[in-house]
Amino acid sequence: MISELAQSYDPLGVHAEDPYPFYAEARRREPVFWSERVDAWVVTRFRDVETVLKDWEGFSSANSLRAIRPLYPATLAALAEGLPPKPDHVTSDGEVHRRLRQPYSRHLTAPGRIKGLEPGIRARADALVDSFAASGQADLITRFAQPLPLETASGMFGIAPPDVPIVKEGSESAFRLGSADLSEADEEAAARAVVIYKQLLAEYVRQRRLAPTGDLISDVTAALVDGDGPLTPDETAEVAGSLASTFGAGHITTADLIGSALKLLVGHPEQWELLVREPLLIPGAIEEVLRFEAPIPTMFRHATRTAEIGGVEIPAGADVLVVFASANRDEERYADADRFDVTRKPARHFAFGAGVHTCVGAAAARSQARIALQVLTERLPGLKPVPGREIPIRRSINVRGPLALELTW
Ligand code: HEM
Repeated sequence: MISELAQSYDPLGVHAEDPYPFYAEARRREPVFWSERVDAWVVTRFRDVETVLKDWEGFSSANSLRAIRPLYPATLAALAEGLPPKPDHVTSDGEVHRRLRQPYSRHLTAPGRIKGLEPGIRARADALVDSFAASGQADLITRFAQPLPLETASGMFGIAPPDVPIVKEGSESAFRLGSADLSEADEEAAARAVVIYKQLLAEYVRQRRLAPTGDLISDVTAALVDGDGPLTPDETAEVAGSLASTFGAGHITTADLIGSALKLLVGHPEQWELLVREPLLIPGAIEEVLRFEAPIPTMFRHATRTAEIGGVEIPAGADVLVVFASANRDEERYADADRFDVTRKPARHFAFGAGVHTCVGAAAARSQARIALQVLTERLPGLKPVPGREIPIRRSINVRGPLALELTW
């Protein structure tokens, strides 16, 4: 029998704004439960989330970003007009996963790579602040938290400035497609944006194959397909598909991290003031934001064999929703887990996942968030919320962050 607690779970509805009290109750009463809403077993405790993430053979990533409900036929028809679907590093296991992940980890963790990006990130952050500082008030999500990672990721990938709006729209649509409840028309429009986005990336892949430039697209293309001849349509689709999922995974999540940091810090003015006085606390503050508001709150896995998680039998063939956002607030793991405290001693959390799929862009994300807070604490130390303004939040199961935050200084 499905419990009342399990029946009430609605991550895009009543639990979208503030899911944390629900997860706290789930951890206490029913830490692993079946949810009809998401058609999966929901796993909420730190230790159980860790067990699932570490067992990549028992819990496949094939459906890790699957839609929360079946897509409309018109959406599927629109997607069918695009590149043929291929597994990417996020949604593959074993040898295929290792092959697809390696070029990203090699590029992103190359010695000096992130350090080398930092002067450019700092210059971009300063230029963004220059564009609104004199006005005394601005929405720091659309004017700062979103453009900084978008421009950084575009530079890293080698996307030309006129194409940036297309990759922004396409990558955001890709996340909306699966993890938000869209109307039929909106879902189809999102699918069309995804098709255009992937086709554009395929064109970049073809060009970089002929004339590599040392950017991420050139490196990933060279690493995934041997030789230097032209790519087959299938090879192009595989490389472009993996680049598409990485571009979105990189800039949307980082924007949400910076946005949530601002929301939490202006909501706790004494902690903002502390960072203004002691900027050396900024890296620890970012870890606390990652713990407190995981930018990727949940992801799916698929049980390849029957397993026991937290005393509950998960049958082979069932889906599992791992809730990073809940594990990160597990009171068994963190003292006073619901208290936001930038002076908390950083401890392991799941904002970047765990196991073989652990985020390869964590250093890039941390670096951008750190520079963002350094620039804002230096240049706008009096930052505070404009009273009475709503803070809309993204309605999605896979990504979470504020969509607008009107601040003054
Ligand atoms: C705050 C920002 C970020 C957060 C919260 C985040 C979170 C995550 C999480 C939770 C995973 C694990 C996925 C899984 O278990 O299936 C992941 C994987 C990944 N992330 Fe990030 N990420 C961030 C930034 C970035 C950036 C900046 C990049 C690249 C530039 C990036 C690239 C990737 C890639 C390629 C994977 C797939 C790794 C694999 O499946 O083997 N991420 N990320």
